[in-house]
Amino acid sequence: MSSLNPPPQPSPESDDQARAIEKWGTQRTTNLNHEIEASDLAVNEKNRVWWENLPMTYADWESQQREPVTAEDFDRTDGFYFGTNPYIREQVDFTSLAGKQVLEIGCGAGSAACAFARAGAHVTAVDITEQAVKLTRRNAELKGITNLEVLRMDAEKLDGLADGRFDFVYSWGVLHHSSNPERCYQQVARVMKPGGTGLIMVYHRNSMRYWLKGLYWLVVKGKVLQGHSFPSVQRFYTDGYYHKHYSASQCAESLHQAGLVTERTAVTHMSSRMIPFVPEGLRQWLKSRIGWLLVAHVRKSDS
Ligand SMILES: C[S@@+](CC[C@H](N)C(=O)[O-])C[C@H]1O[C@@H](n2cnc3c(N)ncnc32)[C@H](O)[C@@H]1O
Repeated sequence: MSSLNPPPQPSPESDDQARAIEKWGTQRTTNLNHEIEASDLAVNEKNRVWWENLPMTYADWESQQREPVTAEDFDRTDGFYFGTNPYIREQVDFTSLAGKQVLEIGCGAGSAACAFARAGAHVTAVDITEQAVKLTRRNAELKGITNLEVLRMDAEKLDGLADGRFDFVYSWGVLHHSSNPERCYQQVARVMKPGGTGLIMVYHRNSMRYWLKGLYWLVVKGKVLQGHSFPSVQRFYTDGYYHKHYSASQCAESLHQAGLVTERTAVTHMSSRMIPFVPEGLRQWLKSRIGWLLVAHVRKSDS
């Protein structure tokens, strides 16, 4: 097993990268959405096909070479992952999970799964796409990690995973893309041990991004005339084919329905500036209130 290691440090380009990632609505993502929309696939198949075509690697959506290949490429991807998501670096205690059973749902290129494994956890990482499975396996292999199993699974039916198996379930920016996120929360509760904990990040409805981008696309771009609404117009500016945004109370209620207790929620944002030129103190304050990312820290009760 690899030695205990903290997560990789952010690369100096992380801020630029966060901006590139937030710059959804590129020609490529828009074309892909149109193609998928025209197909008669089931919703979760549309979700899967989107991510098979554009896996999450923290590379620019328009870039021709988006997939990490070498060990250096993966180190860069890991640096972008932890750099653009400062909340994970600051709030997830990787080393406390040594020896524990950890599940990551929606592992993307495997940056978090590898960090959990390097910290000594027994990790299972799942994703709905072959691409993510391939990338995560390669990331682990290049790092010499052996305590990580990677499986292709839909979070709505984690059939191969036993009830009560995991001490910690982690999912960052994934379940809101599934056609039925509430079904995913039920699966999280099922596979978590009694007394186990988890961290789930979904998109935040009371965020500046949701309302301003929504208004821009509805009014300035005229999508309201084609019958679009705030929820449906997200397709034009956000990643993935399908996404649900939650307020903190809606999220806690959905998790409660699934059998999970939300111990606390936090609002955060990527590393990039939400509004240019605002001073750092105000920037942090805004991020913690109207940021785009809503994080729920959950627990399954002992009984
Ligand atoms: C925005 S990416 C996030 C990836 C990674 N967590 C990260 O933050 O870099 C969303 C990921 O969720 C996966 N995904 C979407 N729906 C899923 C589902 N129903 N079950 C499992 N994985 C899913 C996608 O394939 C994709 O890899």
